[in-house]
Amino acid sequence: MNPMDEPATPTDLTGDAPWQYRVVTDEQIGPWCATLRTALGNLCAATEPLPWPTQWRVFGPLRPGTAAHDAVPPEQVLSTLPDQLLLDGHRLARHDLTVDAAHRLDFADAIERPCKHLAAFAFSAFTLSESATVRLHLGCDYWMTWWLNGRPLFDNTATGNGAALMARATPVDVRLEAGGHVLAAKIIGGSGGWAMAGEMRRLRLPAAASETIAFRIGYRRSFHVNRAGQFDWIMLSGEDAVLGQLNARPAELPIAGLRYARRYASADALHDGVNTLDRELDSVQSRAAAEGTALQYFAASGTAKRLAPSGTVTGLTQAHAAIRAGPVITDIGTHHAHLSVRTNVPVPVTLRIAGRMLISNVACFHSWHVTELSPGAAYRYTLSVGTSLAERCGELRTLPEDGELKLIVCADAGPLPKTWERNAARIRDERPAVFVFVGDLVGSGRSDAAWDDDFFSPAHDLLANVPCLSVPGNHDEDSPLYALLLRPPGTTRHWSRRIGAAQLIGLDGADDWSPGSDAHRWLNESLTACDAPFVFVFNHYGAWTSGPHLRTGPDGEPVEAACRAARHFILPVLRQHGVTAVFSGHDHIYERSHPPGGPVCVVTGGAGAYLYDPEKNPGQNPYSVVRRACHHHCVLRVSATRCTLDVRDLEGHSIDQASWPMRGGD
Ligand SMILES: [Fe+2]
Ligand SMILES: [Fe+2]
Repeated sequence: MNPMDEPATPTDLTGDAPWQYRVVTDEQIGPWCATLRTALGNLCAATEPLPWPTQWRVFGPLRPGTAAHDAVPPEQVLSTLPDQLLLDGHRLARHDLTVDAAHRLDFADAIERPCKHLAAFAFSAFTLSESATVRLHLGCDYWMTWWLNGRPLFDNTATGNGAALMARATPVDVRLEAGGHVLAAKIIGGSGGWAMAGEMRRLRLPAAASETIAFRIGYRRSFHVNRAGQFDWIMLSGEDAVLGQLNARPAELPIAGLRYARRYASADALHDGVNTLDRELDSVQSRAAAEGTALQYFAASGTAKRLAPSGTVTGLTQAHAAIRAGPVITDIGTHHAHLSVRTNVPVPVTLRIAGRMLISNVACFHSWHVTELSPGAAYRYTLSVGTSLAERCGELRTLPEDGELKLIVCADAGPLPKTWERNAARIRDERPAVFVFVGDLVGSGRSDAAWDDDFFSPAHDLLANVPCLSVPGNHDEDSPLYALLLRPPGTTRHWSRRIGAAQLIGLDGADDWSPGSDAHRWLNESLTACDAPFVFVFNHYGAWTSGPHLRTGPDGEPVEAACRAARHFILPVLRQHGVTAVFSGHDHIYERSHPPGGPVCVVTGGAGAYLYDPEKNPGQNPYSVVRRACHHHCVLRVSATRCTLDVRDLEGHSIDQASWPMRGGD
């Protein structure tokens, strides 16, 4: 069975129960109402919708690098609805477009894609029957400049929209006379899209009472439960279920400091009859939501945020207890292995391996240190949860006592799980003895769901079969989940492991690395004690790269503190001890650099993240030998006397090769 399947469909308890709203002030608690606007009464933003123009004349595309791309039509053109548009002597193609149901115009669909940095001008006219103060909400993907009746209205070309098209707009207030008006916009596409949208409202005076009175918005949904006792746990999904309370029991987050999209809890809070899920916003959130009632399609504009309650409660029984992350093999030796998994609810998990049956405690996080294994042997294992069929399996291979070993190194998986999935499948096929992940396992480490969705799930087959050593990156955000599931056992922030002829040393590059610090001393002592023919160090932050993270400040040194530490505090120690190579991620490129005196610096930030352009900062890294913008992983083959590097892209093509002598040799 697919490991992500659950054995039976859990029961959706909330169904289509409607939400109700009320307003609480220091003086009174308002009645529950069917809509937020009714509950707010005169606390609502005093506006009324005006029709947004539906028909637009669009001229483009304007290509980056051409003079026309930066040209702006004169005011007399911007104040009319032109039949044609001439820019820098070129007549632009005209597209007559109609907005969709959410007022969007998608130029990538209508004109051209890929669309990054393509520009277009859009024009439309509208008529007001009486003069009014009007609030325009303007949004785009990704840069925009607006004119009203030929005069500049708004420009965000310095910053871009800052969020997806409908996630954020910018409000602009203008006083308009009765009669006809012309809106014109220049929209420049981003890497993900090329589009614009807008809303228009008339502002009424006086302003809403919400600007002077402190209040809190509460909202709830009530649902009926039969035989609550049949459920062992509940799953609360959606922001309001996760943060709200069920039957007046405050939400208890399983691990503090994480953001949750779904939360598992005991079913004790559930009872027969009417159950209620509710949430109350604080006064700042409430004011934003009151202003947000004036938004029809945008999720937010300025300080206004449209309230979109989300929250379901699902009933779970013992049959729904399941492994949600892992298994992951987090350590391996000639005679031992360490595995960990996370279950959705607290249950024991049974590990069967090498004729043994090891049962963990009732918990959500489980790990096993399996000893007395034989060197160079393959062990098939299974994991089962309670009495259910939710079972996962894998095969771990202990390290051989001698012979060549294959190691794989990669970094920066998040936030493109599909790419990481392809790369993980390739690494799995290589069947290395160990793979080392050099940080940024996820795009947002404080998101509980990101670990499941972006790291564990795309790589479940790899993690269940190939031991994974790792170090954290900045995007892992010092997450407790990293420490619980991935940190090698018995270690704190840094680790050192002998794998065949190679010593692997993992560093948390965000630690204090100044000379005299604990970390600096630990690294020095670890390297002094190391007699391995090859030593590889892993630090998410590179010392020498051509990528944007190594950009320099006015003093000519890296701006980012962890990169500065990598170059000035860590690299000299590695050089002093003749370390073979240091691998980093952080910059989403592949690059091999040879700073004088060593060690070789390899940037391998291409497991699955968005790629950077390594040619954008010429001269930044004078020691660069090879650099590429592509997804990849590094394959190391290490024997007692020889070590080679072969870097493979997602098609399996070799993009770089190198070999290293034994330490102390020539
Ligand atoms: Fe990254
Ligand atoms: Fe990073």
